[in-house]
Amino acid sequence: HHPFKVNQHGHLEIGGIDTTMLAEKYGTPLYVYDVAMIRNNARTFVHTFKELGVKAKVAYASKAFSTIAMLQVAKQENLYLDVVSEGELYTALQADFPTEKIHLHGNNKSIEELTMAIEHNIGCIVVDNFHEIDLLTRILQENNKKIDVLMRVTPGVESHTHDYIMTGNEDSKFGFNLQNGQAESAFKQLYQHESIQLKGLHCHIGSQIFETEGFILATDILFNTLANWKENYDYIPSVLNLGGGYGIRYTAEDTPLPYDKYVKDLVKAVEHRVGELDIAMPEIWLEPGRSIVGEAGITLYTIGSMKEIPGVRNYISIDGGMADNIRPALYQAKYDAVIANRANKPATNEVTIAGKACESGDQLIKDLPVPEVESGDILAVFSTGAYGYSMASHYNRFANPAVVFVENKKDKLVVRRETYEDIVRNDLSYE
Ligand code: LLP
Repeated sequence: HHPFKVNQHGHLEIGGIDTTMLAEKYGTPLYVYDVAMIRNNARTFVHTFKELGVKAKVAYASKAFSTIAMLQVAKQENLYLDVVSEGELYTALQADFPTEKIHLHGNNKSIEELTMAIEHNIGCIVVDNFHEIDLLTRILQENNKKIDVLMRVTPGVESHTHDYIMTGNEDSKFGFNLQNGQAESAFKQLYQHESIQLKGLHCHIGSQIFETEGFILATDILFNTLANWKENYDYIPSVLNLGGGYGIRYTAEDTPLPYDKYVKDLVKAVEHRVGELDIAMPEIWLEPGRSIVGEAGITLYTIGSMKEIPGVRNYISIDGGMADNIRPALYQAKYDAVIANRANKPATNEVTIAGKACESGDQLIKDLPVPEVESGDILAVFSTGAYGYSMASHYNRFANPAVVFVENKKDKLVVRRETYEDIVRNDLSYE
């Protein structure tokens, strides 16, 4: 249940390249991406809107995986870009991403972030809170500029996902609440503002979602509000941003919907309410992150020590772990993997894949079926393309792994492996 081929040597391939060769050439741990798959995912979103004849912007949520090479691919695929920090914006500028196609998010944007965004004339700021409206007002006055914004609202929808990644429910740090009048008073400030153009509303209900009901419910709640604002203020939005959150397959237990299904159901829900309200169809903006890059990425590790506890568990330790993939420890996320150099061998054992961090909780996979394994074998973990590299840490002073892109049967290093000099670069002496 992974989309990658196994070659005649029984080795796992990615994008037509032998993963054991990549491990040898670049070392491990190593993140590898199948770029054709990234492009294909992006195109599914973009083409489905085209097919439906609906005006749309698909913004890649770069928090999922932000590097210069990735943002260049996003640019080539005519995606827009969602950034949430100065660092992500800086990366986008380094990738020469067209600034008018960049949107800035965040629940606590700093003066520096807002100033940087405005000075670079980015396309849109998604306003999250009252403090931000004050900061924006000041910066726009000082710079004598105008800006397009969306207003982020909290529709009060609970999505079926892990608590930590659920963002659209009422008790959320993000956005203006629709239930208690906060959204309406923010709306009035923004709507009347002389240097702010309020293009419409934004909501994001969560991440790794496998159904479209939550999105449809959120759309309905947004439209109930919009119906009020039309009646009371003559306000008609030109944009509706419904966020991201489309689920991907990590293991066989996951049953993701095809991405075009999300687009079609959402468009249908919006069209229905637009008809009722008798307004022009707003542009629909989406912000997929995980669904663009998640399944396109794998991580290669080298197997080292093994420990058998008879009748209890067999541990296999790898040369990476929670420093390059925090998701199992943080969200109890499940992953699937194969022994890349024995990918055609039947499984005979169940093992637990342990990381090398000094922490018992550093276990990437529990009860993974594997064939006979030896030290030096290569483990390939699937679906690590989103929130892996981007959430990597230096715990135990591990160096962040390298990243390789594979496309047209060619491999290209796009992030160098960190060195120990990199790790102590900002350390200063105290003697
Ligand atoms: N738009 C907004 C406003 C968001 O907050 C997010 C994700 C996205 C778009 C993209 O969501 P996606 O399509 O990637 O699901 N670190 C967690 C995921 C955190 C998601 C935060 N917001 C994880 O590893 O599962």
